[in-house]
Amino acid sequence: MDALVAAGGITGLAKNATLIRNPSLVHSQRFYAKAMAWPCPKGLILNGAHKRSSAVAFWGNNQEVIDAEARLLVNTYARVPVVFVRGEGCKLYDAEGKEYLDFAAGIAVNALGHADPLWVKAVSEQAATLAHVSNVYHSVPQVKLAERLVDCTPFADKVFFSNSGTEANEAAIKFSRKYQQVKAAENNSKQAATDFVVFTNSFHGRTMGALALTSKHKYRAPFEPLMPGVQFVEFGNLEAVKKAVRPGSTAAIFVEPVQGEGGIYPAMADFLQGLRDVCNDAGALLVFDEVQCGLGRSGHLWAHEACGVQPDIMTLAKPLAGGLPIGAVLVTNAVANTIVPGDHGSTFAGGPLVCTAALAVLDRIQEPGFLGDVAAKGHRFCELLTQKLNSNIHVKEVRGSGLLVGIELDVSASPLVAAARTAGLIVLTAGNGSIIRLAPPLVITDVEIEKAVDILADCIKVLD
Ligand SMILES: Cc1ncc(COP(=O)(O)O)c(C=O)c1O
Repeated sequence: MDALVAAGGITGLAKNATLIRNPSLVHSQRFYAKAMAWPCPKGLILNGAHKRSSAVAFWGNNQEVIDAEARLLVNTYARVPVVFVRGEGCKLYDAEGKEYLDFAAGIAVNALGHADPLWVKAVSEQAATLAHVSNVYHSVPQVKLAERLVDCTPFADKVFFSNSGTEANEAAIKFSRKYQQVKAAENNSKQAATDFVVFTNSFHGRTMGALALTSKHKYRAPFEPLMPGVQFVEFGNLEAVKKAVRPGSTAAIFVEPVQGEGGIYPAMADFLQGLRDVCNDAGALLVFDEVQCGLGRSGHLWAHEACGVQPDIMTLAKPLAGGLPIGAVLVTNAVANTIVPGDHGSTFAGGPLVCTAALAVLDRIQEPGFLGDVAAKGHRFCELLTQKLNSNIHVKEVRGSGLLVGIELDVSASPLVAAARTAGLIVLTAGNGSIIRLAPPLVITDVEIEKAVDILADCIKVLD
């Protein structure tokens, strides 16, 4: 143990690395035993000179981490067998030092890629100044971020911060219910509207409220009964929406302007406009879930901008803090005015560190020309994919919105995902598993896009 401490530190093993690096934290025999029981692959004892590359050298073997994880972590994820230890720009490196082109971006999170120098600087400086105070107190970065978000969002007057997308939707559910309760009281109605209308292929999160709004049977079934009063309607079918929405019963419609997890389905402008009209007529709120499609991914700052329709509430998360956990709920004053202290809250949400990170992300995304570039790259990406993949009989459609792109296949996408990974390209799936989902960092270059398309074109033969 002393030898390890004296060696100048270890990186790449969060929990035990902390214990080992700081001898004062090794309080008990138990901690010591745990630290030493960890598999000790080659390269464990490093001197200071190797620190920079230690993350790659440390494990030297993906499988050791995977085996340790199976022992230690609750089995909630069907992970792919790779252990990433470092990222730089749009590249990722695994524990064996292999390089990958990242077209997943942590599920549409790492908008600026990995280790963006300005983001790192902002986060490091803020971490060294003030990371967390809780929402019992005021803090400057939270106010600055709220101001930035409100300034660039025409419908929004106020913001509530959360820690994730599902929590943003959870807050939006509560705000919708509270709004309807206050309106019902103002109108001397005996009952407030409490129900929700949502869509096929929707994904709004995994906590109990957001899960009730999420369509996939597999995610819902083990946890039923879920929140009652939720009606699923075919995405894009306005007539069905008109039948489902009932004045006095429907609190809100939740919709993703571009469905992500469900399979990369952009909503048509007249559909979103129709939802707006139905909500206006019924006194229901319109909630846009832009957790995945928002903040530049579509080539617009907000995906709904392309349709010219304004919601009452919009939820955000994934890319907002460039890789740190954050969510946000943007609301009109009409909604905000119905919320009072105690209605909702969070210990961590909107802390100085994540808000400073988010300001750094917005600085980049709002640079002149940035969003235009995203739109142009997304267009070119779809064009190239169509050109190079369409001749394969399993490709049904290439579709997308900016740099959120789907390749729909008539077979499972898993063999292609695995082949691409072996060839050094990381991609995701969506929908029922037959759609390849591509969501690279927004700073991806044309050359990297061409390389990714070439890898997919080369690998697609695994489907034959
Ligand atoms: C549209 C949408 N809403 C909500 C969520 C849930 O976000 P989180 O995983 O941060 O809870 C996701 C996650 O994929 C999403 O795509």
